[in-house]
Amino acid sequence: MNEFEAKRSLAGERILLGVSGGIAAYKAAELVRRLRDADAEVRVVLTEAAAHFVGAATFQALSGHPVRSSLWDPAAEAAMGHIELARWATRVVIAPASADVIAKLAHGHANDLLSTLCLVTTAQLTLAPAMNNRMWWHPATQANVATLCERGAQLIGPDDGSQACGEFGPGRLVEPDAIVRALIASRVPSGSGPLAGQRVLVSAGPTYEDLDPVRYLGNRSSGKMGFALAAAAAELGADVTLIAGPVALPTPAGVRRIDVRRAVEMCDAALSALPQDIYIGAAAVADYMPARTATDKIKKPILDQGSDAASRNSGLTLDLVRTPDILAEIAAHPQRPRLVVGFAAETGNLAESAREKLQRKRVDAIAANRVGVEGCGFDCDSNALSVFWAGGEAELGPASKTQVARDLLLLLLDRLPAARA
Ligand code: C5P
Repeated sequence: MNEFEAKRSLAGERILLGVSGGIAAYKAAELVRRLRDADAEVRVVLTEAAAHFVGAATFQALSGHPVRSSLWDPAAEAAMGHIELARWATRVVIAPASADVIAKLAHGHANDLLSTLCLVTTAQLTLAPAMNNRMWWHPATQANVATLCERGAQLIGPDDGSQACGEFGPGRLVEPDAIVRALIASRVPSGSGPLAGQRVLVSAGPTYEDLDPVRYLGNRSSGKMGFALAAAAAELGADVTLIAGPVALPTPAGVRRIDVRRAVEMCDAALSALPQDIYIGAAAVADYMPARTATDKIKKPILDQGSDAASRNSGLTLDLVRTPDILAEIAAHPQRPRLVVGFAAETGNLAESAREKLQRKRVDAIAANRVGVEGCGFDCDSNALSVFWAGGEAELGPASKTQVARDLLLLLLDRLPAARA
């Protein structure tokens, strides 16, 4: 463990964990354990709906304290009244935070114990939302979340991926370990941390190269690794700019985001963002783009019954040209960041091609992942990386992309002097 991380825990924090109704409530039980492992004291409040998913006895056993769920429990009020409980907390963490609880808090309701406590407390409020992705994207939920964030609430997640309802998208509760890490990170005052004062530029996601108004050439990059890197850099104190290709991911807290579509736009945005201290090219940039983008939809020839085999089988040839190599351009730029890091997705000899890229693109490190290994790389939540630099190499993961991102930044700080201000 890095010295910086070893110093950090939740010691001294009195966390009031609000659990609201949703299937992700079962993960809140694990969260209680993880919070206590990080030295926090935890008391749990369940909403009425949450109690349908996980029983109070589970939370009582894990937290070591009686669980509260009603404003009208005379015995509990006699032990520690709800006002006292709100004053006791140094942080209120709601995980999972349902769309309903978020709406209640945004509008200042006080019709159950949890919402009442939230109106009384002056402690930092943290929300880890979990809900169906359509509920998350609903303008009402987005407006409520924005209101709470403007009032200073910390938002952790939601994560993107497959959901208990069978759908796919943002709305999964962030894993308990990652929630604890985000809570620990937010204890570090802004402007501190090992990347404090450093400008970090991250590119993420695919690029889409338009063939005509309805078709494009793209790739399967989800952007998750780049977004996790931007989030981790911000947690470590950096001033982060994230250039995102077309992805459906929420912007990490404290990160400046620039959305682009094509490789040339990504290149312009990256060069315009210079000077920077660190550049991490995690985007899967298209290597080729159509020489021309048709203004009208490209039509296939209409063949009649009598067409010969040659006409029926005639293909379509696309005229492609190279896109700019953003990583190489940044590495060769007069305002070159002190540290330039590239990514490489490989199917063949990982080490050989990563080392070749290190030289050819004149970058300081290459983080390579093997494409096609189950649970790693494209469009999933975990990853494993082989990192190469002039003086050595290291393996990271397999672990969640959040963890791998953090480990990569700490590795760079540890091994590459250029990463340090
Ligand atoms: O050569 P290859 O595409 O495998 O290199 C991958 C690395 O180069 C990634 O860091 C990617 O972001 C970057 N790259 C780029 N511009 C391109 C192609 C790749 O910045 N046109």
